Amino acid sequence: MGNKSIWHDVDSYFIDKLLPFDPTLEHVLKANREAGIPEIEVSPTQGKLLYLLAKIKGAENVLEIGTLGGYSSIWLARALPEAGKVYTLEINQEYANIAEENIRHAGFQDKVDVIAGKALDTLASLKEKGVPPFDLIFIDADKQNNPHYLKWALNLANSGALIVADNVVRNGEVINEQRTDEQIRGIRRFMDMLENEPLIESTAIQTVGQKGYDGFAIGVVK
Ligand SMILES: C[S@@+](CC[C@H](N)C(=O)[O-])C[C@H]1O[C@@H](n2cnc3c(N)ncnc32)[C@H](O)[C@@H]1O
Repeated sequence: MGNKSIWHDVDSYFIDKLLPFDPTLEHVLKANREAGIPEIEVSPTQGKLLYLLAKIKGAENVLEIGTLGGYSSIWLARALPEAGKVYTLEINQEYANIAEENIRHAGFQDKVDVIAGKALDTLASLKEKGVPPFDLIFIDADKQNNPHYLKWALNLANSGALIVADNVVRNGEVINEQRTDEQIRGIRRFMDMLENEPLIESTAIQTVGQKGYDGFAIGVVK
């Protein structure tokens, strides 16, 4: 499966070149590890990609499904204008509490709402509350629910919104039709939906780096 050491070293090189030392985000990673949160945040270069996508899009309202400790939420919040908002959904109350603390420490407490609960429930209540339609939606939670999250994303998106889903490659397991693993099956159903959904134009990109071999799907809502 390739030379993982070089993937890591090249990521470190890009981080040295393009991502100046960032005490705020370093603090988040340190706080997450101290709290025993698993190391499954997006990598720094991927976080910056989310930030750049939000900037390119000129996003004001962002929805994130899967907060963990708030690392990617902070990258996204940084890209938004003064009145912008990130709604981020997290099932684990302990993680949600740590994310809130990290977001407060980063100074984004007014810009990021961490909503604790099962995303399928909290998405429904967001809809009921009439949240603004979203300009960018980042899907990064339990992969078995990706097909539901895509439906919700299409429901809550502006025309022209970006939808980004992480971890759609999973070490290449996405092409393994025999896998009974619910997460892989969820990703495959999600890809089937992208194939057949006329409301979105999309592609998927494989990635290697500090987080191993994986990839993301990205689409624009018509
Ligand atoms: C890969 S982590 C998110 C990482 C985060 N986006 C980042 O890059 O910093 C996935 C998160 O989704 C949460 N999650 C899993 N199932 C969920 C569900 N049904 N509803 C909401 N959140 C869920 C997990 O608790 C975990 O914190």
